[in-house]
Amino acid sequence: MRIVACYSAKGGVGKTASAVNLAWWCAARGRSTVLVDLDPQGASSFYFRGDPARAKAGKKLLQGRSPLTEHLQGTDYPNLDLLPAHKGFRGADALLAQADKPRRALADLLGALESQYDLVLLDCPPTLGLLAESIFAAADRILVPVMPSTLAERSYAQMLALYADQGGKPKRLRPFFTMVQIRKTLHRETMERMRAQYPRFARHFVPHARDVEYMGVHQAPLLAYAPRSVAAQAYHAIFIEHCGELIRSVA
Ligand SMILES: Nc1ncnc2c1ncn2[C@@H]1O[C@H](COP(=O)(O)OP(=O)(O)OP(=O)(O)O)[C@@H](O)[C@H]1O
Ligand SMILES: [Mg+2]
Repeated sequence: MRIVACYSAKGGVGKTASAVNLAWWCAARGRSTVLVDLDPQGASSFYFRGDPARAKAGKKLLQGRSPLTEHLQGTDYPNLDLLPAHKGFRGADALLAQADKPRRALADLLGALESQYDLVLLDCPPTLGLLAESIFAAADRILVPVMPSTLAERSYAQMLALYADQGGKPKRLRPFFTMVQIRKTLHRETMERMRAQYPRFARHFVPHARDVEYMGVHQAPLLAYAPRSVAAQAYHAIFIEHCGELIRSVA
């Protein structure tokens, strides 16, 4: 089993859009996949039509007092399950802090999925707290969507510092640009500068595209309803570049 997180310290940068599409992409390649919605806002649970009535007891779940496997739901797609968002995840930092080894607690919880799944996808809330440290410790790969803006550049540098502080392996961190408006000089210049400073950015980028925004209307991954769109093709290329060999390793 491998764990892939879609993470950023910044909000509204496309973490959920990426996690939902990557989960679908992995499942479509025959990998037994589960998307874990760590964000109490529950956006990826909404996209996958998760059943909120069964989404309770998040506090117990994070404390390890309720087995993770009891919270799993199916989706409309083969090989793809969902662990929906729980309101109790709002207090994730405080709950993790109560564990014996707080930074290892998330990895230990996810270990319960080992016998059932090839891949665990984490849709993360924007955080730099203990949950972020737990995600860094648990994930084999961390996909970081970055909007080419000044504040996003600053936030990326802050996140890198925290990641390095935690002893995170640079190879696991895989940034890519998203919501790119290539006609904007600021976007082009920011991308150029960040690529020069951080060579791990994916070669492809996800453009700002109306097709992606329609995920909320369709309640489905972009790759499922508009696979030929420019944005879907970009996601496909980025997933191959950043996760291709990882997916093959769990074949
Ligand atoms: N490439 C894109 N082009 C246009 N809109 C996009 C793109 N990617 C995401 N969006 C839109 O931007 C908004 C934020 O995206 P998303 O929810 O994926 O971000 P997030 O990082 O998960 O946000 P949060 O921090 O709130 O969890 C959504 O309305 C989504 O439809
Ligand atoms: Mg989100």
